[in-house]
Amino acid sequence: MSFDWSLIWDNFPILLQGAVITIQITVMAVGCGFFIGMIAALANLSRFKIIRLLVKCYVELFRGTPLLVQIFMIYFALPMVIGQSINPYVAAVTACSINSGAYVSEIFRAGIQSIDKGQMEAGRSLGLTWAQTMRYIVMPQAFKAIIPPLGNEFIAMMKDTSLVSVIGFEELTRRGQLIIARTYGSFEIWTAVAIIYLVMTLSISQLVAFLERRYNIK
Ligand code: ARG
Repeated sequence: MSFDWSLIWDNFPILLQGAVITIQITVMAVGCGFFIGMIAALANLSRFKIIRLLVKCYVELFRGTPLLVQIFMIYFALPMVIGQSINPYVAAVTACSINSGAYVSEIFRAGIQSIDKGQMEAGRSLGLTWAQTMRYIVMPQAFKAIIPPLGNEFIAMMKDTSLVSVIGFEELTRRGQLIIARTYGSFEIWTAVAIIYLVMTLSISQLVAFLERRYNIK
């Protein structure tokens, strides 16, 4: 068989639009996941056992079930409970955000734990409150430590957003499928899709490397 380049050139704009949508969902999901994860990790430091237990349940539940099933739950099962259908975009971003939050909260937990507890004690002995010490002393140091694993989560999420194609959401993978349904050009189109994902993930790697240099992580 011969490689039909024209298939790629003709459909490239459609794939690129899909790639833009993939980037949008990824940024939204990791952005929301970042806040959910940070709040969950801080809540996990609570002295109330029930709050720690709730955080643990959240992390185990969303890390322990496939993202694919979570997408189905939010898009197909939840509307039956609330009696209203959910827009695929909202379902996709919600599922990916909540899922990412579970991973990010563990990343934050590790980052906070990696900071010597003497830092908290030093802050407190200077008269800062717990929240101030967290905000001005512990978190800035923890944040530096978690840049590499956060970059990892970003890359993983970018690829995992391909799962939202199952609810008909037209991101990059779904657009690839639709073009193939019309042209039968499996080889060409999947090659193009793979390369576009690779270019996007390599760009994130570069961005993370830049941040690491900027914050001087050894
Ligand atoms: N692929 C795994 C799953 O289906 C992980 C998904 C979550 N990925 C992520 N980057 N948070 O559960």
